[in-house]
Order: sequence, then structure tokens, then C-alpha cells
Amino acid sequence: MPLELRPFDTRAVRLPRLAANDDLPMDKLRIEGGERLRGEVRVSGAKNAALPILAASLLTADELVLDNVPQLADITTMGKLLAGMGVKLGRDGGRVWARADEVGLAEAPYEVVKTMRASILVLGPLLARFGQARVSLPGGCAIGARPVDQHIKGLRALGAEIEIEHGYIVGRAPRLTGTRIVTDMVTVTGTENLMMAACLARGQTVIENAAREPEVVDLARCLNAMGARVSGAGTDRIVVDGVERLHGATHRVLPDRIETGTFLVAAAACGGDVRLTGAAPETLDAVLEKLREAGATVEAGADWIRVRAPNRPQAVSLRTAPYPGFPTDMQAQFMALDCVADGVGRITETIFENRFMHVLELQRLGAQIDIDGHTAIVRGVPKLSGARVMATDLRASASLVVAALVAEGETVIDRIYHLDRGYERMETRLAALGARIERIK
Ligand code: UD1
Repeated sequence: MPLELRPFDTRAVRLPRLAANDDLPMDKLRIEGGERLRGEVRVSGAKNAALPILAASLLTADELVLDNVPQLADITTMGKLLAGMGVKLGRDGGRVWARADEVGLAEAPYEVVKTMRASILVLGPLLARFGQARVSLPGGCAIGARPVDQHIKGLRALGAEIEIEHGYIVGRAPRLTGTRIVTDMVTVTGTENLMMAACLARGQTVIENAAREPEVVDLARCLNAMGARVSGAGTDRIVVDGVERLHGATHRVLPDRIETGTFLVAAAACGGDVRLTGAAPETLDAVLEKLREAGATVEAGADWIRVRAPNRPQAVSLRTAPYPGFPTDMQAQFMALDCVADGVGRITETIFENRFMHVLELQRLGAQIDIDGHTAIVRGVPKLSGARVMATDLRASASLVVAALVAEGETVIDRIYHLDRGYERMETRLAALGARIERIK
């Protein structure tokens, strides 16, 4: 069903409770440090699973019903992007409906993509179902170069003709054809894009060097519920047997392992006792291991995790790696823990080239950190002291919250719209655990 490409009209996008990140108010967080966190929190659904799964709604004209979708700015942005193409969306708490039966446009405009790189996830589904797509190149971002060459390379291997025109990836493909793809590096959204595209391709696609992240597995589970034939998700070799069409399905999004980890680190840094419910402990092995190394007692059941921490954590060293290695999205939060730990921690970032933006802000709180290439050497100090700091990206913001919770006196964190992209009502949930924290409008 070829579509006529016409320019994206952002004025046409009018959705209740949906606003792009750039429309968000410049809220701040004020935190009075020194309280121990105690109590129970319920984990939200995983942002990084909900985003590709929402994009997968483009693969069928039937209704996709999703549960446990977190209420976050990034989800709103994906909703705005899909609605701009004609996808009908509805939301009631954690439940979201999406129906792509009247898509009139196969385009992701720069205005949306620049606020959220994950917008690239519509590229594979659009090419697979409509045979065309026009998706803005994301451009630079705070944590490094982050190109999308692997997405493009893989889609070309599936038979798409792709050109870069005026900052846009413009793709055409009458029908994709299955093939064997070996990605140059492990890429999470790259794997997801290719997996979604392959679902409607003719014949079999094999993705080698695939990302093994739990969010890839969750997407595969949803695609299979929609009638796809995906196997091997969770290993580095994913096999997709293409089908003619997909149908509607109901899917529950898995718990957010990064949100879970962030609450756990916050508890561990300030000597707390916190139990997380609705969690998926099996997705957090590397993180739980580091918390134990930091001196915390960690217990876990099927869907809960409890962490009890001593007064002062032990410093831990770590190296980020693709799953099941230590997640880059938890690196900044563990650095905050090391800032007040006993000893010296060495934190090596191997995934993103510029993901130490939080270091300068942590130093404003009194942290002692030296950078040597891709490694940060953190010498723990007994106390940080509150100050005004600025959030630079999503996980950097989370690390500032952790540091502020243990710092003496008041910390004001500016630009927390970064935090709102990935954490649902962070301040109310921390306050429920006993933190002295408030949002300043
Ligand atoms: C996803 C996550 C993000 C997480 C990251 C790594 C989502 C929406 N976001 O991002 O939270 O931090 O995985 O776990 O799920 N690369 C290329 N070319 C490509 C693709 C990637 O060079 O075509 C490089 C990147 O620059 C980076 C590395 O590969 O150095 C891994 O990036 P990737 O896994 O693709 O990250 P995202 O999928 O964007």
C-alpha cells in the first residue's frame, strides 16, 4: 500500500496529555540530603521495552493493547510521533491502545527525533509494512556520537533502498527479503529495528551479534503474540521467519530494570532498607552483584528485591558492557555511590564515548573524581555537600539525585526534564521512602 509522502504538520498533532519534551516546564528538584530510605516502591514498566513495542504497532492494522506502559515524557514523545503518522492511540493509566489502520504518512520529523533518538525505531516497521519511510537522522547527543549506520546497513541488506537526503533517511522497499545480517557492534535499537522489519520480510532473516538485552526479548515476545515467528531473542543469534501479516495482541511490558537499579543504588548509598515490588530480578544480575560488593544485603524473590545497606558503602569498580554485562545506563548512579564509599572505585565506560558528563556536576557536590580516558577513578569522601547542579542527560540526572540524597544540606537540580524522560514521579516515590525531596515548578 504505497503512501504519498507529504510534510509532517506538527500543528495537526493534538493529543490530550501528550507534549514533546521541549514543551516541558523547566522544573527543578530540591533535595535535603541525609535521610535513609526505608519502605517499599513499585517498579514501573520498562521505558526501553515500551518504546520499540509502541513502534511495533505500525506493523499491523489491528489493535495492539499494552499494559504496564510507564507514564514518561519519552512515551509521550513516541505517542506524538505515531499519532502524527495517523496511528490512533488511547491511554488509561498503564494501559495503552494503538491501532495503525489509517496511517497516512511514513515520516518521523526532525522536531521529534532530535528530542528522542529512539524515534529511529519506526524506520524498520514503516519500511516493512508500507514499503517506504522518511526518518530524520538523530544528529549528535549529550553522551556521544551514536550513529545509526547499523540500522541502515541491516535494512539495506534486507533489500531496502536507502538514501540520506536533507538530513533524512529516505527508504523504499517494495517487499523486504530475508537475509543474514552481522552487525559490526552490539546495538540494542539496531537489533530491534531489524527484528521488526524482518517480521514482514519474505523468507528467513538471521541477525548475528544481536543485542541480548531483556527489552529485545520483550519485544520479540510481543511480536510473536502478534503472529510473528521470532526465535533466539536473548541470544546473539536471532532468527526471524517472515510472515505475510501480523495481527493485534495484548502484551504486558516487562519491569524497568534501570529504574529498579536506580532505587536500589539510592538505598545502598544512603544506608537504607528498601523493597522493590513488581520487579524482574533475573534481569539485574550484574547490578545486584555490584550492590553486594558494595556491602549491601540483597534478597530477591520471583518479582521483588530487597536491599539493606550498611552506614557507608564499600567502593566498587566496574566496566560497562552489553547485556548481560554491567549496563551503561547504571554507570552514573554507581559513580554517585562510589563518591561517598569507603575506598577507591574505577569505573570504565565502554559503550558511549562521552558518558562522564555527570562528573563535573558530582565534583560540584565535593566528589573526588579523576578521569583517565574512558575510566573514572573515584576516591570516596565521607560526606558530599549540597549545591546547585544541572542535569545533562537522563542517567546523569539520576546520579545527581542519588548524590543529593546522601549530601549534607540542600541540593537543587536544574533541568530535570531529562529525569522525567525516564523516571515516573521520581520525587513522590522517593518522598514515600522518607527522602526530603520536592519539585519546584
Ligand atoms: C539503547 C538504550 C539506551 C542504552 C543503550 C546501550 C533504548 C531506547 N535505549 O540505546 O538506554 O544506553 O541501548 O545499552 O533502548 N552504534 C553505532 N552504530 C549504530 C548503532 C549503534 O555505532 O548503528 C554504537 C553506539 O554509538 C554505541 C553502541 O553502538 O556506542 C551501542 O549503542 P546502541 O546499543 O545502539 O544504543 P541505543 O540502542 O541507541
